[in-house]
Amino acid sequence: MYDAATVRQAYREQKAAFRGLGPVRISYAMKACPLLGVAALLASARADASVVSLGELLAAKRAGFAPSRMQLHGNAKTDEELRGALRAGIGRVVIDGAEEVDRLAALIRRGGTVSVWLRVSPGIDVDTHTYLRTGTLDSKFGASISTGDALDQARRISRTRGLRLIGIHAHLGTQLHEAERYRELGAALATLARDVREATGVTVREVAVGGGLGIRLRADDRVLDVRAYAEAVTAPIRAETTVERATVYCEPGRALVGRAAVALYRVVATKRVPGVRTFVSVDGGMGDNIRPALYDARYDAVVAERAGATGGEVAVAGKYCESGDILIREVRLPDPVPGETIAIPASGAYSVAMASNYNHHTRPAVVLIDRGRARLIRRRESHADIWRLERR
Ligand code: LLP
Repeated sequence: MYDAATVRQAYREQKAAFRGLGPVRISYAMKACPLLGVAALLASARADASVVSLGELLAAKRAGFAPSRMQLHGNAKTDEELRGALRAGIGRVVIDGAEEVDRLAALIRRGGTVSVWLRVSPGIDVDTHTYLRTGTLDSKFGASISTGDALDQARRISRTRGLRLIGIHAHLGTQLHEAERYRELGAALATLARDVREATGVTVREVAVGGGLGIRLRADDRVLDVRAYAEAVTAPIRAETTVERATVYCEPGRALVGRAAVALYRVVATKRVPGVRTFVSVDGGMGDNIRPALYDARYDAVVAERAGATGGEVAVAGKYCESGDILIREVRLPDPVPGETIAIPASGAYSVAMASNYNHHTRPAVVLIDRGRARLIRRRESHADIWRLERR
């Protein structure tokens, strides 16, 4: 269940955080929640969209984003995706990989041009789950700055007909909390921009700092203040003359939609193992939120019918046939009984987006609350939906 006001408010917070820090664009990372009903809120608020596939591009377009205000990412974009993006009139292609330079150039019509960013890897390690780190040397994403790859690719792009190098991009990872790493990122990109100008004569006009700002999943999580984040990442950029007036692109996903949804589950069964644990099993799990199983993400919960009450420690277990399908390993709940509703807040990012039909469970419905009205923005899946692509 998403709340429209929370999405709009999160967008306003991002905009406000960058106020006075020079030109900025906020580009919604569609992957966090590509639901049309949710993305449309951000399109109406005039965000850009950051997409990683032709599918996300088409969804963003349907949600109301203009393709010219979209950036296409991906370390393995196929020709089909590139062609589709060019045909749609994509604003920026984010080149990620040496071969992509020639492949993209070959797809551009004679006389045509496309604006590109170069994705680089700044070699900055961050404090988050290993799977959620992106900007290190040992990463599949981005041309490494330290090996000289980034500058080589910048030279190559600047010599390639049809490609207009106007920006550089890096993304450190996700669910991050350290301002200092963002400052290092800003500094790495500022220095690179200067080096690119020296090596190629090209002035970088857009500096994209990725997303990654963490949100509070549990009440006692420490998070980085959005203004502190904005100041940290922009300060080194504004201090470098080649990019002091560049547009900074910030690509939040989780920070825009994460806090806007509460996942609702029905309690189906309970099991007590004295001295070990009490399992409260619900009618969903890793199929609608893989994050606890995949990244050890820790959420909070309440019994919706008795939201103020507390109780002993229990585990909230999913219904999938997998021991790892535990939504919350430890949470204090007032002895939930079958039929009651468990609400898990801050479920809006990368839950529905990563949902699966494992065990042939159908995916849940999604409701959007907007101005006091509840609207179904995704109907519950049926068994027929699951089989629709199959033949016996
Ligand atoms: N920009 C780029 C280039 C990205 O790769 C990502 C996320 C973002 C922006 C948005 O990051 P955010 O602001 O949402 O942290 N499935 C994982 C998250 C994967 C994020 C991948 N890239 C999870 O559930 O935590």
